[in-house]
Amino acid sequence: MSLSGKVALVTGATSGIGRATAELLAERGAHVVVSGRDAERGAEAVRQIRDAGGVADFAGAELSGAADARALVRAAEELLGPVDILVNNAAIAVFGATASIAEDDFDACYAINVKVPFFLVGAVAPGMAARGGGVIVNVSTMVASFGTAGSAVYASSKAALELLTKSWAAEFGPHKVRVNAVAPGPTRTEGTTGQYGAERLAALGAQAPARRVAEAREIAETIGFLVGDQAGFVHGAILPADGGRTAV
Ligand SMILES: NC(=O)c1ccc[n+]([C@@H]2O[C@H](COP(=O)([O-])OP(=O)(O)OC[C@H]3O[C@@H](n4cnc5c(N)ncnc54)[C@H](OP(=O)(O)O)[C@@H]3O)[C@@H](O)[C@H]2O)c1
Repeated sequence: MSLSGKVALVTGATSGIGRATAELLAERGAHVVVSGRDAERGAEAVRQIRDAGGVADFAGAELSGAADARALVRAAEELLGPVDILVNNAAIAVFGATASIAEDDFDACYAINVKVPFFLVGAVAPGMAARGGGVIVNVSTMVASFGTAGSAVYASSKAALELLTKSWAAEFGPHKVRVNAVAPGPTRTEGTTGQYGAERLAALGAQAPARRVAEAREIAETIGFLVGDQAGFVHGAILPADGGRTAV
């Protein structure tokens, strides 16, 4: 389980699943670059990791394209060294009827959910390969696997991320860089609590065999599995962590 001394860059680590993942990877010995927009919550996440004996630094970034992605990788490397583990977690959800979606919202959703992971991988994967290997985990969603009215923009952006996961497994797997994705179901985070409210989130959770919402730590554990050597033969997988929702 040890990730001792490995440098992990986690996007969207100031909140929810990303923050829980940053904490879990640090507990396993990784040196974690906590990234996000909110410097205050970034500092709090770093403080919590350090108080628990871990190693972490904050790299603030408002990400929307190739230049920001490359700048974030440079910042991460200056803070803690070359990136061994990348978790593409930062995302936004744009919901609504297709005819009601503003072009700017469509572009913002595809920028952070698709374009930024694309250019982050382009910035880190060749270096991982040159140093003998690395791990990338993309955070998708269960709604990338089935149609739901009102989720077209968000769900299709994550479906693109899932196909990128497989494309990158083909491209980088032969160079010892494993690329996988986790596809969570409804999870209690700052983002979902604000967007849905507790009641609607609970109703979504109740649709799955598990009959409940996930805690962010449970999704982080799934990401931690994909990062670790136990998953050494897992390449290009989209691992559902959705209480069984997509299985039934
Ligand atoms: N929670 C769920 O039910 C659920 C279900 C399925 C999939 N997911 C996926 O899981 C991931 C995390 O979800 P969550 O609910 O934990 O999210 P969240 O609480 O809303 O947090 C989102 C994180 O992404 C960062 N972020 C958003 N836009 C950004 C941008 N343009 N540049 C840089 N950072 C940006 C935020 O930074 P700041 O807060 O610092 O602004 C924050 O750290 C996402 O990929 C989401 O699609 C979540």
